[in-house]
Amino acid sequence: AENPLPPMEHWAFSGPFGTYDTAQLQRGYQVYRQVCSNCHAAKFLSFRNLAEAGGPQFSDSQVKALAATFKVQDGPDDSGNMYDRPGRPSDPFPSPFANEQAARAANGGAYPPDMSTLAKARSFERGGLWFLLEPFSQYQNEGPDYIHALLNGYKDDPPAGVKIPDGKYYNEYFPGHAISMPPPLSDGLVDYSDGSPKTTAQYSKDVAAYLQWMAEPKLDQRKQTGFKAVIFLAVFAGLLFVLKHRIWAGVK
Ligand code: HEM
Repeated sequence: AENPLPPMEHWAFSGPFGTYDTAQLQRGYQVYRQVCSNCHAAKFLSFRNLAEAGGPQFSDSQVKALAATFKVQDGPDDSGNMYDRPGRPSDPFPSPFANEQAARAANGGAYPPDMSTLAKARSFERGGLWFLLEPFSQYQNEGPDYIHALLNGYKDDPPAGVKIPDGKYYNEYFPGHAISMPPPLSDGLVDYSDGSPKTTAQYSKDVAAYLQWMAEPKLDQRKQTGFKAVIFLAVFAGLLFVLKHRIWAGVK
């Protein structure tokens, strides 16, 4: 069966003036840390990025503390051995598995994709220059919309006639419908301290926003710069218009 289009959610970062919701990114990090990072790597991201402007903006001491909850392989030491130590803000996120083979072996042959660019990756999968049209199309924000839909798209009973192999799960939005990722979220799984609902509906939105930030950490800055550039161009066009009239004023 065809996959339905992911419903279009309202995101804080949607539209030309949208910016990330810092509190949402912090909650999304919590979900990523407690749930997704057990299987998914994010190797292009370092802990220190979590303190940067336009992101979750954890304080430096918070970043130090959360980095230290990860085990990072270092070495070789003086006797030539590799060893584990607590993570530091400058470390990239360590992968949960030693390599792709180990990841596949632990996940029934399927590979949990790296999350650093996952929210953007699907736009490019469409192929060609399609992604240039995204700002004008119904596919805007397909990344986080898709991730949100996928996390809510599990069904215990596949429709009549659909057979799901052992070790796979029926998901309405996954291409082919048989996904190797077990439903990762359930109500109450992650403890929020800011009073947000502890529900799959809320977790999935927060973590999708977080994955969007991972894939596009400079979105806020990009929009600010774009806005200034448009203002500049508007003023400059006005000046040129006046100037042109002055220069040619004497010519009949
Ligand atoms: C695939 C998100 C947790 C194992 C995926 C995909 C996304 C995703 C977006 C790609 C789907 C596609 O290719 O279209 C998440 C999020 C998680 C999470 C947001 C946390 C809330 C987990 C956990 C596991 C896991 C805990 C392991 C128990 C996998 C595997 C795949 C996958 C094996 C590949 C599926 C396949 O190709 O059949 N995940 N995931 N994920 N994930 Fe997760």
